[in-house]
Amino acid sequence: MPEQIDLFSASDIEATPTPTDFDPDKIPTSASVPIPPGTYDSLTPLAVHCKSCQRCELAQTRTNVVVSRGNPNAPIMVIGEGPGQQEDEQGLPFVGRSGQLLEKILGAVRLDTEKDVYICNIVKCRPPGNRNPLASEINACRPYILEQIRLVDPKIILLTGATAVKGIIPSEKRGITKIRGTWIEWEGRQCMPILHPAYLLRNPSRDPGKPKWLMWQDIQAVRAKLDEIRAKA
Ligand code: URA
Repeated sequence: MPEQIDLFSASDIEATPTPTDFDPDKIPTSASVPIPPGTYDSLTPLAVHCKSCQRCELAQTRTNVVVSRGNPNAPIMVIGEGPGQQEDEQGLPFVGRSGQLLEKILGAVRLDTEKDVYICNIVKCRPPGNRNPLASEINACRPYILEQIRLVDPKIILLTGATAVKGIIPSEKRGITKIRGTWIEWEGRQCMPILHPAYLLRNPSRDPGKPKWLMWQDIQAVRAKLDEIRAKA
């Protein structure tokens, strides 16, 4: 029987927020504890599990688990790689320099992060030193992101950078620079890989063909797709 955390031990029973539909037996402490699709009936118990999660070794070094921010009913989901230092400290995704640039990019096509977008990451705990998440960490965390996608049910998914693509569509072997700006249908959803904002911070030129120029093309395509979907609805 795989090990599970009992969140309701006598010492913390008062302090723990307990949604009424919450099943304490399901809290996973190792990646061998399965989290099948449909485990969560809302984002609330999912967040409770994430915050106690011990499925991989990133649990040992994190300050906070970073689950999401934005609108849980948004038409667009932005998926990043994993928390950096500021995200780890604040417990919110994309709040550092990359996040500020992401807000600007979305704002340039009148997308509001409080209203139009739900933001989360492939791994919910900071990899030490901001290294790339390991395949084992991505796999341990994958059930959470799949459940977030199912529950938010976005019309459009933006995959920021190669790790986000790998985390959601492991069969995709093409590089991010080849597939950015293209629509990929995955599980009946429209996904667009885009460059990671951190990459744009390191490559600030706006010249045609450069990362910022490419991002401007891509985000306009996202806006057009959202308008098209809304016009049909
Ligand atoms: N980069 C990411 O991919 N995610 C964050 O939350 C912050 C920076």
